[in-house]
Amino acid sequence: MEAQANRPVALFDSGVGGISVLAEMIRRMPGESYLYFGDSAHAPYGSRPADEVRSLTEKHIAFLLEMGAKAIVIACNTATGAAIAGLREKYPEIPIIGMEPAIKPAALAHPGGRILVMATPVTLTSEKFRHLMSLYTEKAEIIPVPCKNLARMIEAGIMDGPELEEYLQETLAPHLFRPADAVVLGCTHYPFIRSVIARMAGTENIYDGGAGTARETERRLREKGLLSGSTVHGSVTILNSEENEERIRFCQTLLANIAKQ
Ligand code: DGL
Repeated sequence: MEAQANRPVALFDSGVGGISVLAEMIRRMPGESYLYFGDSAHAPYGSRPADEVRSLTEKHIAFLLEMGAKAIVIACNTATGAAIAGLREKYPEIPIIGMEPAIKPAALAHPGGRILVMATPVTLTSEKFRHLMSLYTEKAEIIPVPCKNLARMIEAGIMDGPELEEYLQETLAPHLFRPADAVVLGCTHYPFIRSVIARMAGTENIYDGGAGTARETERRLREKGLLSGSTVHGSVTILNSEENEERIRFCQTLLANIAKQ
């Protein structure tokens, strides 16, 4: 079991977004080693058909398991909604942890409030999301806000400035005829632009699923006796389907910047 515990935790995302989840993982479990794979060559997933998202995700998870991952974190809401059920069936022995929009903490903190849930169209039309939303519609007004091109902009490094602000203004304005009490970031790319979203949405109450996913991953690893137990920082390896150094450097910069927040 010990040798297995020394193997890396793998994180997967359609591109650079899962780096925001990786930061939470390192914060919570610094002794683990991490293997991160982003599929930027096929990003964004959010505007692809769900079947295509599923098969891309399955292919990359198989690769991460071949690389020796002891657990898989699908650090992408879109891929989780499309593929997690099938993957858990296929690999029953492997802890597979997914993302879900942080509606629960937002609804519990703002009972009766207006909560905007920003996510990709694939996430917002998934069965998994419909079910999640149905659990909280009595507690708060949950308003799905499809953000078709937002992950694409972030993937291209557009993190502030007029183009981003114009996009957010157009996307959020139809829902801001009354003020929002909170915003849920239902896509792992969005935490990188948290402060711009807060400003444009007019609320500082911004929720994302990264910390909850890290907590759940720790719980699953402990349950299986797979926590590394190391007191020194583990290694972090970042891979991408776009095999160029610049993409990897971009991921490293995002990780360094978000870790400071
Ligand atoms: N980061 C992803 C998510 O959490 C997907 C973004 C995309 O590729 O469209 O949904």
